[in-house]
Amino acid sequence: MIKIGNRLLKIASMVGKCEKPADIGTDHAYIPIYLVQAGMCGKAVATDVREGPLMKARKNIEKYRLSDRIELRMGDGLKPIGENECDVFIIAGIGGVVMTEILETSLEKAKKAKALILQPAYYDEVLREYLYKKGFCIETEALAEDEGRMYAIIRAYFDGIARSDDDLYYHIGRSLFVNRDPLLGSFLQRRIRIQTNIVNGMRKSAKVDEREYLEQYNLLVKMKKAYEDFAGN
Ligand SMILES: C[S@@+](CC[C@H](N)C(=O)[O-])C[C@H]1O[C@@H](n2cnc3c(N)ncnc32)[C@H](O)[C@@H]1O
Repeated sequence: MIKIGNRLLKIASMVGKCEKPADIGTDHAYIPIYLVQAGMCGKAVATDVREGPLMKARKNIEKYRLSDRIELRMGDGLKPIGENECDVFIIAGIGGVVMTEILETSLEKAKKAKALILQPAYYDEVLREYLYKKGFCIETEALAEDEGRMYAIIRAYFDGIARSDDDLYYHIGRSLFVNRDPLLGSFLQRRIRIQTNIVNGMRKSAKVDEREYLEQYNLLVKMKKAYEDFAGN
């Protein structure tokens, strides 16, 4: 059985049992290898937009003798996946803005999926706001800590209800509070440190847009309040 780190393990646990998942931007193909080996799916598709990662993926798939179960495809986003072919799309380790572009380009395919498992590398607030606006429900979220870094993993599906939320919950998923994620306290502390640096940096800068500054400052206040409420309960 392949050994994978905490981030990938958490992603796999949020995929759960499925028919045929597609791992978009697979790189090393660790996620589909693990899912097939763990018996969570019979078959999987692994894609990447670049030749180098696909060669790495092929080597690993062959090493674990899974070439008959995991199909490799080259291409951008969800484009290499057929209509109604895969029930779950996994996109991990890619920035939130690029993820929104991938989803927007193939919106009908994304809408039909049973679940989207998304782990943005950064700009997760852009992704959450996009999902809400487009009628995707964020079913749940979880945090993973891996090699000193923390990652938010989102499980979403399309239900056609457009939503909006307070900007705090675009930055720190609401489900993390609802589920009282065990890593939320330290995640909030980290985010408060980063946000404090942003606000201090803006304060020192000669050219500050007053509205942008206030937005960032108010977000910091909300994060601190959320931490106090969470830690106090
Ligand atoms: C940092 S790696 C993440 C690998 C793996 N998903 C993980 O989470 O460990 C990002 C991978 O996504 C691929 N990628 C970036 N943009 C993509 C796109 N639009 N479509 C498919 N793959 C993409 C890159 O080539 C790279 O191999």
